[in-house]
Amino acid sequence: MSRKTVVCVVGTRPEAIKMAPVVLALRSQSYFDVKILATGQHSTMLDQALEHFRLSADMNLHIMKERQSLDHITASVMTGAGKYFDETDPSAILVHGDTTTTFASALAGFYRNIPVGHVEAGLRSGNMHLPFPEEMNRVLTDRITSWAFAPTELAKENLLKEGTPEDMIHVTGNTVIDALLYTVKSTSRPSCSELAKLPENVPFLLVTAHRRESWGKPLEDICHALTMLLDAHPELWMVIPMHRNPSVRETIKKYLENKEKAILCDPLDYPDFVWAMNASKFILSDSGGVQEEASAIKKPVLILRDVTERPEAVEKGSGVLVGVDGEKIFSNAIELLESKDRFMEIENKCKLQPFGDGTAAIKIAELLKDYFENDH
Ligand code: UD1
Ligand code: UDP
Repeated sequence: MSRKTVVCVVGTRPEAIKMAPVVLALRSQSYFDVKILATGQHSTMLDQALEHFRLSADMNLHIMKERQSLDHITASVMTGAGKYFDETDPSAILVHGDTTTTFASALAGFYRNIPVGHVEAGLRSGNMHLPFPEEMNRVLTDRITSWAFAPTELAKENLLKEGTPEDMIHVTGNTVIDALLYTVKSTSRPSCSELAKLPENVPFLLVTAHRRESWGKPLEDICHALTMLLDAHPELWMVIPMHRNPSVRETIKKYLENKEKAILCDPLDYPDFVWAMNASKFILSDSGGVQEEASAIKKPVLILRDVTERPEAVEKGSGVLVGVDGEKIFSNAIELLESKDRFMEIENKCKLQPFGDGTAAIKIAELLKDYFENDH
């Protein structure tokens, strides 16, 4: 039987982290010829994430421009991915998540009648503008995919409500748990230069914020709340790995550069970030992936957003939806810092692992193999 070529597309940091286990699972079966197409929507952050899994792109479109527009990403991914699909003629294409790389490459596959599998299908916030443009990217991608690999039962329900045929939906768990398990938990502090300024055994909060809909005033309010927290708790440190987006970095630096105990650093390598999540007192983040990871390691996370497409993180995990209002962020964080009961209430909620058991990627590889073995 001839090997089946599968192209796995990745463009940004979270896609690389969550697609990596799928690539590794597919490559463990000689049945597949697996190629990684990197769009390069992120330049350094994408390579940084792939390197941890000892993966490199078979083709990189290098599309990133500073302060790039959504039009630029969409048009250049479609053209570049389309050309690569024409050259490699894959039997299947896999995309992950909700970025513009995800949607534009899925559409390029659809235009060529190549079946597309969507890893992390079915997440919905219910508001097309929050997160922006990710909610729209997910909805459109799910309309054109042949396999919807849903991470949870709730994601499956979302797809059924929209009319996706049940036999197209496969609940696999989220591959982020596979990625976390692959990343051996280190108990000693990483020696990277980014964390060098953090003294041993001090209490610290881990903070990330990058969402497009938060640029401007919401991010200013978040940063203002962080400065108030540092003033209210002089013993407290903060580790803030800044996304490479210049608009995000400018705002964070404006508020926090002069705060002695705020460590503003470049993005951490994935294992170092996992260490920081584990070692922190708690996390403040608007990231999608971090909500899932925090629930998996049972670490409280204040979610810096008004809505989440991952309600499981709030209902069954360690997430608290606090929005982008400075006062609300401050009061929720103070409660966690000062009330042991509140802290334990959140920790105790994480009884079950809502996002999977670390076998999502293997399930996806098996499902694809079954499909092709049945004469497709
Ligand atoms: C993108 C995704 C978002 C995802 C996030 C993960 C879209 C529209 N947005 O948002 O869904 O949550 O990635 O981080 O798909 N930059 C660098 N180096 C890098 C990466 C980014 O310099 O390695 C800078 C560039 O100036 C770039 C800017 O960041 O133009 C924004 O990157 P972009 O991919 O457009 O948006 P993100 O906010 O990263
Ligand atoms: N992450 C990382 N280093 C960092 C910050 C985040 O490796 O300095 C990882 C994090 O563990 C998660 C992913 O990047 O797996 C989240 O990426 P991001 O917040 O950029 O995107 P989102 O999940 O919001 O789409």
